[in-house]
Amino acid sequence: MILKAELHCHIEGAASPELVAAQAMKYGRDVEPFIRNGSFVWHDFTTFLAAYDFAADLFRTEEDYALLAEHYLTGLARDGAIYCEFFTSPDHAVKAGLSPEAYTGALGEGIARARAKTGMEGRMIVTGVRHFGTESIEEAARFAASCRHPLVTGFGVAGDERSGSMKDYVRAFEIAREAGLGITVHAGEFGGWESVRDALDHVRPSRIGHGVRAIENPDLVRRIADEGVVLEICPVSNIELKVFSSYADHPFPRLRAAGCKVTLNSDDPPYFWTTLQREYEVAAEHFAMGEAELVAVTRTAIEAAFVDEATRGALLSRLDRPPEAESGPG
Ligand code: ADE
Ligand code: ZN
Repeated sequence: MILKAELHCHIEGAASPELVAAQAMKYGRDVEPFIRNGSFVWHDFTTFLAAYDFAADLFRTEEDYALLAEHYLTGLARDGAIYCEFFTSPDHAVKAGLSPEAYTGALGEGIARARAKTGMEGRMIVTGVRHFGTESIEEAARFAASCRHPLVTGFGVAGDERSGSMKDYVRAFEIAREAGLGITVHAGEFGGWESVRDALDHVRPSRIGHGVRAIENPDLVRRIADEGVVLEICPVSNIELKVFSSYADHPFPRLRAAGCKVTLNSDDPPYFWTTLQREYEVAAEHFAMGEAELVAVTRTAIEAAFVDEATRGALLSRLDRPPEAESGPG
């Protein structure tokens, strides 16, 4: 099995429809119209975000969140993942009635449980959500900078790219950077190439969530390659959300050929009927990526991971071992 790493997955977006339905039952809520026939229902980015926010509101206690992280990471390990960073959203937790501290501690407990079972390393990236407003993003950054949870190693901004602008988030990212956190920002998904340029100019991230619309400007693609900025690409998400109309149009191969550092990620897997395994399969089938090239993608992800150097070294050495030295399925 090809060893994998996930850098871009929203933990609330990793909850399966079955788990969300069980949570709805627990809290006496109806899943209509967000889940039908065991599948999430949405038809564009706005309704996707509405389904996502509905599901997130059904995780309310520390045990709810610990189980969510444990389930997600255990499944990911079965797919051959050795490392995962997931996005957290203190705002969603607060809306559901839990403090950011309790929420983060609970997710950390889920990571610890999954690590004990599978050996998978996990870290958390605290995010602010654009459509919740600029002030909430700064508050998320202040929390990330001060929480001192050992598994919180990054800060990012997600949410609806059509609200707010990169300039609004400069202070938030400064707070996070001063605290020593890794920096990533969603850009170039629903915003065009200008959004990626603005991210580079104002936020100076080492990674960009998506970034795929950079393909609209060859000079920007060259800049991303020259600056070594890593793109957290989520091919299935992009197709399902109609950022591109087909895999043939998806810019992953062109960005890679231009020298950009690319990684493969699942974003909100059950909403897009995907898994990290499927993302790698899509890359093999549609982007002509062979096994060695896929392992190189995993290597890029681990090189860009927000981890201490000892952990990075240990993860990289697993990639250098012959496959038969790795236990597990496949
Ligand atoms: N939050 C969850 N999924 C997202 C996506 N694909 N883009 C922006 N924000 C998100
Ligand atoms: Zn995302």
